[in-house]
Amino acid sequence: MRARQLPARYIYGMDEREEQRRRWADDARERFSALYERFPGWEVGRPQPAIVALHEAGDIGERVLDAGCGTGENALFMAAHGHQVWGIDIVDAAIGAAAEKARQRGLPAARFLVADALALDRLGLSFDTVVDSGLLHAMTDAEQRLYLGQVRAVLGPGGSFYALCYSEHQPGASGPRRVRESELEALFASGWSGLTIVETRFVVSFSDREAAAYLVGARRCP
Ligand SMILES: C[S@@+](CC[C@H](N)C(=O)[O-])C[C@H]1O[C@@H](n2cnc3c(N)ncnc32)[C@H](O)[C@@H]1O
Repeated sequence: MRARQLPARYIYGMDEREEQRRRWADDARERFSALYERFPGWEVGRPQPAIVALHEAGDIGERVLDAGCGTGENALFMAAHGHQVWGIDIVDAAIGAAAEKARQRGLPAARFLVADALALDRLGLSFDTVVDSGLLHAMTDAEQRLYLGQVRAVLGPGGSFYALCYSEHQPGASGPRRVRESELEALFASGWSGLTIVETRFVVSFSDREAAAYLVGARRCP
């Protein structure tokens, strides 16, 4: 029997996309590992008020993924308030610190894993809600498009996604990119419903102690 051959174009296409994803993941790991060793301005030792407000409004489902969870304060807050949470991050040291906090605080409902947010489909898990505090704004346009496809892959139909990101209203240029409302509208234009973009604050550990932010929310279309 002759082996069935796939067209070379198809094979190369898959390889190239995987190569690209690996380059992006390696770059993020390198950049963020260096930041964790110096001064992670997002490390505030408590959950972001915008995430706390989501929980209080009943907007977070039972099974939650915290994508780019860092050392886990948001994930640990959600686990302490009745949610089953997986936190994933590309940096080993961040995940090690988050897992240690979960152990010390006696929170088995918070589980942590080193993983790439651009390859969420490999987790083999599905969630009611995906929460992102400070990851979307760390990505380029092309990474954001791949990431949103991956968020969709782990959300059940009607599942919700919330991302807290620096907004165009934050002055200056240091720190992450400022995300524009029009960029968010374009990013969520297809495959999502019920888009909400709310002006809020991102608490940080330097200068003014908070930055102008958007909390973007949307539901996965079936
Ligand atoms: C601004 S920090 C926010 C950390 C945490 N969510 C918080 O609010 O404290 C962004 C996080 O995303 C992680 N990250 C960046 N690229 C990633 C990727 N491709 N996959 C998973 N995590 C990633 C970084 O290592 C970092 O911990």
